[in-house]
Amino acid sequence: MRSLAVAVVVAVAAVGCAGGDARTAPPPTTGAGARQGGLQALARPHRLRMGTAVRANALAADARYGPTIAAQYGMVTPENDLKFAPTEPERGRFDFTAADAVVRFAERNHVAVRGHTLVWHRQLPAWLTEGRFDRAELLAVMRAHIAAVVGRYRGRIAQWDVVNEAMGDDGALRDNLWLRGIGPDYIAEAFRAARAADPEARLFLNEYGIESPGPKADATVALVARLRADGVPVDGVGFQAHTVPGSPTGAALARQLRRVARLGLETAVTEADVRLELPPTPAALADQARSYRDLLTACLEEWSCHTFVTWGFSDAWSWISKTFPGSGAALPFDDHYRPKPAQRAMAAALRAPP
Ligand code: G3I
Repeated sequence: MRSLAVAVVVAVAAVGCAGGDARTAPPPTTGAGARQGGLQALARPHRLRMGTAVRANALAADARYGPTIAAQYGMVTPENDLKFAPTEPERGRFDFTAADAVVRFAERNHVAVRGHTLVWHRQLPAWLTEGRFDRAELLAVMRAHIAAVVGRYRGRIAQWDVVNEAMGDDGALRDNLWLRGIGPDYIAEAFRAARAADPEARLFLNEYGIESPGPKADATVALVARLRADGVPVDGVGFQAHTVPGSPTGAALARQLRRVARLGLETAVTEADVRLELPPTPAALADQARSYRDLLTACLEEWSCHTFVTWGFSDAWSWISKTFPGSGAALPFDDHYRPKPAQRAMAAALRAPP
């Protein structure tokens, strides 16, 4: 049942893309990510993209990093290299050195790329945060940035997180530079600018803490419903899914994915990780494996969910320990690139017939 329904979604997405290029075509059958037993190869019958966040500096620094991605995954998201500060360090001066390295790696290995992120309240350059811009000028700054970044990778990046973390935990729009300087319509204007820069890329509103019911999830669903009703080109919602074992549950995530799908939107799990207290015990690793299985199964069983990305793949390269001291080991491979129970649990879930 899923493969037929998803075939429709992918076909729609592919049709939307003149000639159905690699960006949204069904996952690869040859080359990277399709190696026997790799997560992408196992995901192929489900027409699902299995992805990971990637760092240009890790690709350069560690010889095992790239080949592991190539063997396992069909999609990569630059963890930091496509963000505002690294790509436009000075107004109108762009630096795509790191982002180009990631995109070239992906293309060499027949792996799709997910762009992250164009408009966010973090990792912004000083000229922007300290600049004094009126509404018209800040709109021009935002549009110029989107045109330059999306335009550069037109036809080479399949999906974009156009706006990231726009919602506050209380269900009101997050107070940020864009809301203060432009107003609530910064969100719609960002999507219009992205669509103009690449009419084929799938455009997502990306958020965390919406995997379970609550004011933030309710407000995010209401926001995308309003945007759609206003004809704003939003194609989908990204669920970051930064979690701990058992929370959110797979069932909770499935319900939230369904709410968005009912609006006719695509869904994606975009930054999954399941952090553990260090050092992880065998019981904790088993709990983690169950969580990864449940989050992936929620996506597998939802026809609108065509992408499942973890926020990194090896514990050697993860944001967790810096942000949550005493926690870590959040990813499917350990810091020696050996598959953990989590990777095996996801592989087992993918081996189930579609
Ligand atoms: O690039 C500078 C480097 O020049 C400098 O020497 C070094 C000094 O600390 O900092 C480097 O920048 C760091 C950057 O990652 C690149 O490594 C920043 O300090 C650090 O704060 C930044 O952390 C990233 C974080 O977003 C920033 O908010 C994490 O790696 C990244 O995993 C994290 O990802 C976010 C998603 O984009 C959105 N959702 C939540 C997720 C986790 O916070």
